[in-house]
Amino acid sequence: MKSLNELFQKHFGREPLYVVQAPGRVNLIGEHTDYNEGFVLPIAIDKRVVIAVAPRRDCKVVLYSCNYDSRNEFSLESIAKDDLRPWSNYPRGVAYLLQKLGHRFSGLDALITSDLPMGAGLSSSAAFELASAWALLVAGRKGGGVEVNQSGPVSPPEMPGPIDLIRLCREVENDFVGVNCGIMDQFISALGRRQHALFLDCRTLTYEQVPLPDSVKIVVCNTGVKRELASSEYNKRRYECDQGVHFFKGRIENVSALRDVHSSDLERFSAQMDPLIRKRCRHVVSENERVLESVGALRARDLERFGQLMTTSHESLKRDYEVSSKELNVMVEIALQQAGVLGSRMTGAGFGGCTVNLVRNDSVNLFVKQVQERYQLEIGIAAEIYVCNTSDGAGIAPQESSDNCCGAV
Ligand code: GLA
Repeated sequence: MKSLNELFQKHFGREPLYVVQAPGRVNLIGEHTDYNEGFVLPIAIDKRVVIAVAPRRDCKVVLYSCNYDSRNEFSLESIAKDDLRPWSNYPRGVAYLLQKLGHRFSGLDALITSDLPMGAGLSSSAAFELASAWALLVAGRKGGGVEVNQSGPVSPPEMPGPIDLIRLCREVENDFVGVNCGIMDQFISALGRRQHALFLDCRTLTYEQVPLPDSVKIVVCNTGVKRELASSEYNKRRYECDQGVHFFKGRIENVSALRDVHSSDLERFSAQMDPLIRKRCRHVVSENERVLESVGALRARDLERFGQLMTTSHESLKRDYEVSSKELNVMVEIALQQAGVLGSRMTGAGFGGCTVNLVRNDSVNLFVKQVQERYQLEIGIAAEIYVCNTSDGAGIAPQESSDNCCGAV
């Protein structure tokens, strides 16, 4: 496999000046709660989008995607969507919104590569948005000669604050790419921290880094089924949640999101509710309570309880929120039959993609082998399984990750 430098040379005939990166994520618990102004607990993983960049003297942004083997360019003076190369809409949208906010930068040559599987629910889109923002802001600054610290992510002067950058990237996804997502994915890709989970309050955007124990591994099992229904069903769930809010607004005080509804409210009004809306609300309300309890369990190093809450979350997503799939359910069932497994659930929007599993260190190898065999037998697909390492959020790539190219080339 060629190094990033060699690939950059090949496509642009010169050396890159900087390498930036942004990680994907896996959500440990707190699913479909972010757009209900609730709580989430994701981690940033060691799979990411990497962009090697060199500034240009003109206003052109020239992109080469290793994964798509495709080249694309646009001018910073007039940015439109490109429906023929939808992958380019992420950097296009980021450049457009940054300029709208008054940020100015030069054009750049950018080589993009990623080892995040696309459509697997590990937030390759959010990672691409964050990496694009860093590429434009750091390397694309006029002249490109910004002082940066190669030892880790830094905020050079004139960088927008992290929360502004997160909001901007989410806006790109909502308005430029056309996916009506919440804020979790951009948040964790920007602010994840190695060996920590990020406990985020999606209403106030206050967060806390919660240390992860080193006696367990987080293992991600990819069902190999893409999330085809995800975006239409996702929007339906959002609508159903809005109906839930509407119901409670007339009955209890101070409800502006499902975050404000408690289990006791649900019980009290249960009989008056439309059964479908009741189920959707029950998931969101109970999931928020599970996140709060799971953070307590993590702090108390009670991994058994943490794992149980993950598994209950899956049941709730399957029965009440109805965003799981046959493959996800089979993957979870197989996982829960293995030794050393503390909890297992689908992660992300659902309808395909991945499960997340909490597995004791000494059981990981056998877990991977058994789950692969059993899943192949039952579903007929060879599942990819990743034993995840956690990672830091978006920024200048540390030297070792700049040296090798993580994507398919
Ligand atoms: C997708 C969205 C997130 C979140 C999850 C479900 O990943 O991008 O904002 O809503 O689904 O928890």
